[in-house]
Amino acid sequence: MNATEEYTQPLGLDIGTSRIVVARNGDKNCQYDSLLNAFLTIPYSKLAESLLQREDVFHEVQGSDIVVAGNEARKFAEIFHLETRRPMLSGVLNPHEPHSLAVIRRIIAKLLGQLGYAPTPIQEGLAVVFGELATSNFTGIGVSCGSGLCNACLAVLSVPVLSFSVPKAGDFIDSQAAAVTGDLATRLRVRKEQSFRLNGLASDRTLNALTVYYQEVIANLTAALRTYISATQRLPKLDYAIPLVLSGGTVMPKGFLDHFSAALRAQDFPIRLSEVRLSPDPLNSTARGALMAALC
Ligand SMILES: Nc1ncnc2c1ncn2[C@@H]1O[C@H](COP(=O)(O)OP(=O)(O)OP(=O)(O)O)[C@@H](O)[C@H]1O
Ligand SMILES: [Mg+2]
Repeated sequence: MNATEEYTQPLGLDIGTSRIVVARNGDKNCQYDSLLNAFLTIPYSKLAESLLQREDVFHEVQGSDIVVAGNEARKFAEIFHLETRRPMLSGVLNPHEPHSLAVIRRIIAKLLGQLGYAPTPIQEGLAVVFGELATSNFTGIGVSCGSGLCNACLAVLSVPVLSFSVPKAGDFIDSQAAAVTGDLATRLRVRKEQSFRLNGLASDRTLNALTVYYQEVIANLTAALRTYISATQRLPKLDYAIPLVLSGGTVMPKGFLDHFSAALRAQDFPIRLSEVRLSPDPLNSTARGALMAALC
């Protein structure tokens, strides 16, 4: 990542609850950089600061604290057995964190280098439609299952017909599973990302807890899709089936697609689906879609 290099083209920026991702170059060589949207503070001392500088750890001194932000925050949390602190909660700024804006600003500046862009917001579900559904003329349902939220958008020819979000996603799985196993949510998250698969219950307490809450996230999301689509009054009359694409880090464990599809099939769905598939690059899908939208 070379943050200081001058870059004057449009870019896509996804400020997620747990990761901030930037996408550059709209052609086939789309490039991504990302940083964890997390931090922790350690008490300031000259020695600690010079050690962090020597190790090239991304940090900033703020009064009597040293704020370590981005990917290294997780490493330090593991070492000190602490929870990382999060600038965002459930998709928006965390109201309980005095450092939230400053940390996000630092992370964005590190990823983007020179600032001075004219930003245009796009909803996350619609960004997934832009990023993943070009081959169906930007018609279909884009879903991003992230850390704070699951976001969905039904679009027809790139026009959003319906967008909504539900607040049960990856963080919910981590914190609920941590509550029943007595572990730290940060540690459960690492376990979930490293080795979890959604393939039924077994003898491991932690994996079982993750499975139970994963199933709740899927049930909640599929119920919301049914309810919101059924309740949309001006639903376009489509005489063809449309695709649904799943993205976001929470869709990554093996077995997610099967469980999600089974939950959809369990009851009538108000719209005909041609396919349900996973994004080939779930962690970068929103940023890529935002870039596509910026280039249109
Ligand atoms: N390999 C993996 N297996 C399971 N979960 C994963 C994996 N990789 C990432 N995750 C989970 O995905 C979530 C992060 O996904 P993503 O980066 O899409 O979220 P976000 O965009 O930061 O959040 P949001 O969109 O809700 O604001 C976290 O809960 C993380 O634990
Ligand atoms: Mg996201």
